[in-house]
Amino acid sequence: MDIGIDKIGFYSPNVYVDMEKLAEARDVEPAKYTIGIGQERMAIAPLHQDSVSLAANAALSILDEDDKEKIDFVLFGSESGVDHSKSGAVWVHQLTGINKEARSVELKQACYGATAGIKMAMGHIALNPESKVLVLGTDIAKYGVKTGGEPTQGAGAVAMVLSSNPRLLSLDNDSAALTKDISDFWRPLYSDYAFVDGKFSNQAYLDFLNDVWVNYQEKTGRTLKDFEAMTFHVPYTKMGKKAILAMTENEEESERDRLMEYYQSSIYYNKQVGNIYTGSLYLSLLSLLEQGPELEAGSRIGLFSYGSGAVGEFFSGTLKADYKNYLSKDKHESLLNERRELSISEYEEMLQQSLPKDGADIEIESEDMKEGTVYLTGVKEHIRQYVKK
Ligand code: COA
Repeated sequence: MDIGIDKIGFYSPNVYVDMEKLAEARDVEPAKYTIGIGQERMAIAPLHQDSVSLAANAALSILDEDDKEKIDFVLFGSESGVDHSKSGAVWVHQLTGINKEARSVELKQACYGATAGIKMAMGHIALNPESKVLVLGTDIAKYGVKTGGEPTQGAGAVAMVLSSNPRLLSLDNDSAALTKDISDFWRPLYSDYAFVDGKFSNQAYLDFLNDVWVNYQEKTGRTLKDFEAMTFHVPYTKMGKKAILAMTENEEESERDRLMEYYQSSIYYNKQVGNIYTGSLYLSLLSLLEQGPELEAGSRIGLFSYGSGAVGEFFSGTLKADYKNYLSKDKHESLLNERRELSISEYEEMLQQSLPKDGADIEIESEDMKEGTVYLTGVKEHIRQYVKK
C-alpha cells in the first residue's frame, strides 16, 4: 500500500534574535554562530506560545474539513510537554475541530518523538486505509542565557497529515533503528532548561547515523547513489553538514557535492528558526521541498532522525508527481519574514519568563498577543486557558 505524507505545514512565533547581534553581546566572533554553528536567526517563544499552541497553529495551517472528518489519530511528538498526565494532542484535537471519534496521545523521546508518530501512523493506515493521521512535532528549545547551547535554541512546530495515496512523499517501509541508553542531552522534570554534553551529543549523533546507515544499506541493498537528497535532524545547520561529510567519506567527490547542494535548500528554514527538536527533521524536509528545485517523481529522499538519550532511525521516501503544487512556500516565507526582531535584553527577559510553579493563577499580557490563531491566555485553577481567534 502507498502510505506517506499528504500535507505538511509549520508554525513559529513572530519574534526572533539576530545571531550576529547575539554573538556581539556574548563577545564571540559572529562567524562562529553564522558559519561555525550555521544559524542566522533564532525563534523565541513568548509566554503565550507553548508546545500546544504552536502545534495547533501548525495544524490549522493545513487542515481542511475532509481532514478533520477523516483524521482518527492525533500523535503529538514533543519534549516540551505541558502536563505530566494530559497529552498535548487532546488540546490540539479540540482547538483544530477534529471529529470526536479520533484518539489523541503524546509521544516522547527527545527529538525522535515525531518520527515515532510517523512509524505508528504508517502501521495504523496499513490496517485502516481510509484513515488519516495527524502527526505533530512541536518544541521550544531552551538551554538558557549565556550557556554553551544558547546559540542552538529555537521554537516551532511542524504538522503533517499522513494517509494512503499521499500527494507529497510515499514512505518506504524499510527503516533501520537503534536505541542505546546514553546521557548526551536530557531535561529533568524540575528544569525549564535542557542539560547537554554538547561535544558528546555531536559524536553520539554521528555514531548513531553511521550505525543505522550501515544497517539500512545491508537490509535494503541500497547505496548513496539510490538517493537524490538526504535530510537530517538539524539541531543547528552545521550538524547536517557534518553528517553529509561523514556519510560521503569514502564516496566520490561528486556525490558529496550533489548532496551538499540539496542540503543548502533543506536548511533554508532551519537557519531562520533554530532548533525545534522533534520538528527539526521535518522542517528540513519541508525546506527541501519548498526551497529546492523541482525533483522528478520517484526521486528517493533519505531521512535521519536522532533523539538524544538516545534513539536514531534512518528511513526513506519517494517524491510524488507535482508535489510542488501542494506546498505553501509563499505563506511560510511570509511567516518568517514578518517577524519582529528582539533586542538582546528583550530576548533575555522573554527566555527567562515561565508560568507560576506554585499553582497560582496567571493572566498573560503580551503585546505580541495578536500572533497566531491559537495562543495561551493564562492559567486558571491549574488549568491552561487557550483561545482560538
Ligand atoms: N568562524 C567560523 N567558525 C568558527 C569560528 C569562527 N570565528 N569560531 C568557531 N567556529 C567553529 C568551530 O570550529 C566549530 O566547528 P566544528 O564543529 O566544525 O569543529 C563550531 O564553530 C562550534 O565551535 P565550538 O568551539 O565547538 O563551539 P561550542 O563549544 O560553543 O559548542 C555546540 C557548540 C553545538 C556543541 C553547543 O552549542 C551545544 O552544546 N549545543 C547544544 C547541543 C546540540 O545541539 N547537540 C547536537 C546533537 S543533538
